[in-house]
Amino acid sequence: MERLQKVMAHAGIASRRKCEEIIEAGRVKVNGETVRELGTKVSNNDLIEVDGVPIYREEPRYFLLYKPKNMISAVSDDKDRPVVVDLIEGIEERIYPIGRLDFDTTGLLLLTNDGDFANLLMHPSYQVPKTYIAKVSDIPTDKGINLLRRGIVIDGKKTAPATVNVKSVNKDNRTSIVELTISEGWNHQVKKMFEAINCPVSKLKRERFGFLDLGKLQPGEYRELTAFEVDKLRKFATNN
Ligand code: URA
Repeated sequence: MERLQKVMAHAGIASRRKCEEIIEAGRVKVNGETVRELGTKVSNNDLIEVDGVPIYREEPRYFLLYKPKNMISAVSDDKDRPVVVDLIEGIEERIYPIGRLDFDTTGLLLLTNDGDFANLLMHPSYQVPKTYIAKVSDIPTDKGINLLRRGIVIDGKKTAPATVNVKSVNKDNRTSIVELTISEGWNHQVKKMFEAINCPVSKLKRERFGFLDLGKLQPGEYRELTAFEVDKLRKFATNN
């Protein structure tokens, strides 16, 4: 479900602010009923009319992108840094990333213009497991690994149990490669979890999102999800 003014703005009616004025003026109907409340939420199945004209809803699109390093996971950036949506070429729909990866993180990022789908995947009670490969400074101790596995307090909150596999250790450089699977998506969560066990992350890549992986994609490349994958993700999110 998305706010009516957001859906209207998305459909190109006017800016979000102007759409609010149009709603308050009683010019908008949802399923035949005039709606004046700005908090109204609508789903993909609701019929929205402005001045009696049904609004054009964009076809839902779903992309899986291999996010390269040094890109912002957003549709625009106030500092004019490169943003991930610029990589998806030749489409008219206004897509945006589902969640975010840090500027310096690489890996699997989903993008869509389907707000219900994005909300479902980001909703705290329906979080999908995400697998990261981190290069960290130092060699995590057994105690540190167990803390990550059981849950560790970061920003005053305890993380849910995680799956942790130490893939390799370089004793000379004192670095390690660790695979971590978590279900939440807090801000900088993986980096904070490793910081909390004194192994700061120097490189981070998201390899999997639920059952999806990067396959043969290279950084900057993308593909559309199949209808089957989209349905499966919807089911996967609600069953986990
Ligand atoms: N956790 C982080 O710390 N950074 C990311 O980009 C994703 C998860």
